[in-house]
Amino acid sequence: MQHPEAIELKADKIAAGLVIVFEHWGAPAGFVVVVPREDGNADMDGPFVEPDLWRGGIGRKLVEEAAQFAIAIEAAMLIATASPRAEPFYAKCGFKPSSVRSTPHGPVSVMQRSLVF
Ligand SMILES: CC(C)(COP(=O)(O)OP(=O)(O)OC[C@H]1O[C@@H](n2cnc3c(N)ncnc32)[C@H](O)[C@@H]1OP(=O)(O)O)[C@@H](O)C(=O)NCCC(=O)NCCS
Repeated sequence: MQHPEAIELKADKIAAGLVIVFEHWGAPAGFVVVVPREDGNADMDGPFVEPDLWRGGIGRKLVEEAAQFAIAIEAAMLIATASPRAEPFYAKCGFKPSSVRSTPHGPVSVMQRSLVF
């Protein structure tokens, strides 16, 4: 919420069918973006959930949808950049830290979840 520009949703990602939206009572309640990478993995941007709906399971549902989509496009790994506050959420969703990246907002963890069983 301190950096709203960080959750700007680019129209080209919507047009490419890479955005998954969760609706709650007919209104958008959260979204996640999955972007295929050239190395055979996929980046997951988000999820982002409406604050008044946090801790209701929507974030996890979006991650699971993102994982299914990434498997469908044959990605081997789902990769997320986690703000320090979101790290425990990603850990609960099966992601493990792989490296640290610096951003204009400070260091963030890169976390990954294997999609290969
Ligand atoms: C992070 C975020 C997506 C989580 O969404 P959510 O709908 O609240 O998550 P869920 O309710 O599905 O939570 C799944 C699990 O993670 C846990 N969890 C969620 N947020 C957490 C937090 N901030 N700290 C610790 N655990 C957390 C939940 O308790 C739940 O655990 P459980 O299965 O043991 O009960 C949401 O808080 C959000 O949109 N935050 C702002 C944007 C953001 O940081 N997105 C991540 C990209 S950096």
